[in-house]
Amino acid sequence: MRGYFGKTLTAMAALALTTSVAVADDVEVLHWWTSGGEAAALGVLKEDLAGKSIGWNDMPVAGGGGEAAMTAVRARVTAGNPPTAVQMLGFDIQDWAAEGALANLDEVAAAEGWDAVVPAALQAFSKYDGHWVAAPVNVHSTNWVWANKAVMDELGIAEPTTWDEFVAALQKVKDSGRTALAHGGQAWQEATMFDGVVLSVGGPEFYKAAFIDLDPAALGGEQMVEAFNRMATLRSFVDDNFSGRDWNLASAMVINGEAGFQIMGDWAKGEFINAGKVPGVDFACFRVPGTAGVVTFNSDQFAMFAVADAGAQAAQAEMARSIMSPAFQSAFNVVKGSVPSRTDVPNDAFDDCGKKAMADLAAAAEGGTLIGSMAHGHANRAAIKNAIYDVVTAHFNGEYDAETAAAELVTAVEAAQ
Ligand code: BGC
Repeated sequence: MRGYFGKTLTAMAALALTTSVAVADDVEVLHWWTSGGEAAALGVLKEDLAGKSIGWNDMPVAGGGGEAAMTAVRARVTAGNPPTAVQMLGFDIQDWAAEGALANLDEVAAAEGWDAVVPAALQAFSKYDGHWVAAPVNVHSTNWVWANKAVMDELGIAEPTTWDEFVAALQKVKDSGRTALAHGGQAWQEATMFDGVVLSVGGPEFYKAAFIDLDPAALGGEQMVEAFNRMATLRSFVDDNFSGRDWNLASAMVINGEAGFQIMGDWAKGEFINAGKVPGVDFACFRVPGTAGVVTFNSDQFAMFAVADAGAQAAQAEMARSIMSPAFQSAFNVVKGSVPSRTDVPNDAFDDCGKKAMADLAAAAEGGTLIGSMAHGHANRAAIKNAIYDVVTAHFNGEYDAETAAAELVTAVEAAQ
């Protein structure tokens, strides 16, 4: 492990040169955390590093799910100039590691004991070939609904636990003249809803068969047709201006009572918190009806690209160490809406939705129902994910009926393999 001595001390820098202990540079961080809540969470990380005299060189690339960010990373690496640290999801980490592009974090991982505290489901993505290549900063999950509490109370809506109850609740909101479902028409947002919808139809076995095993019988069968029918039902509850809307603007519609519900990963909670809203008072969080007990997760990790410069390497090690410290994990995830990637972080600082998310995660890990999110790169590689995105979004926009969409899913996934 390279030590860090504070980069303003030139005497120390000289010492570093003579003992091959490097002084940490700034970190250059490529990420897609550009909404208000995300920026607030990022601020926690920046501040933590600033406290260690590590400067921050920001490279934001907007777009949930990280598609645009991944395109930007590819361009930087191709140009021979990779960023120091990159926010990355699931299979993207594995793909970059397979290309030999990532730095080995084994030394800091061993010194800090990551093996003992990071759940196996996350390690499957943080490690390649038995070596740590990324530091998991959080665990999000996608099968959540966010609701405006005042709207629910006014309309006498109890928390729905079945799909039919959910549809009835959406109808009540629509009848009241509001937008029932806040949604942004972008492929990744539709795919995020699809995670919860597929799970609500067929449970974890069906979800795994379709998105992880890519079983054509699951991808093209009756249950998938039903999932597309449910998507069409949801489509009937969005407003006319949904096309292209960013997810955080959809969250804002729920926050200000213009809409009743949003189906979105728990990064949406970051928007509510950032707006000063309190769970149980201003808003409600519940699992997509019909998916209780199952968690479709995605973990934001920081992958460090292999760079030759010793100062950059020192900054990478320090950033990885900071990210994984229990105090940071608590402070960051409280703001981000996610839960810690370590199992030993107390839940005291978390609000009710956060406590529920932590308990759900632990129970799902224990019960074998913690499953990688298709929409957020934890079920299969990007090529497959994108093929599914295309079909889901085409159906949502009325290009296919449910039967055709299920058939197209089989074809598209096959072609992408
Ligand atoms: C990331 C979240 C992020 C969300 C929306 C997801 O893919 O995991 O951290 O907040 O996209 O930008």
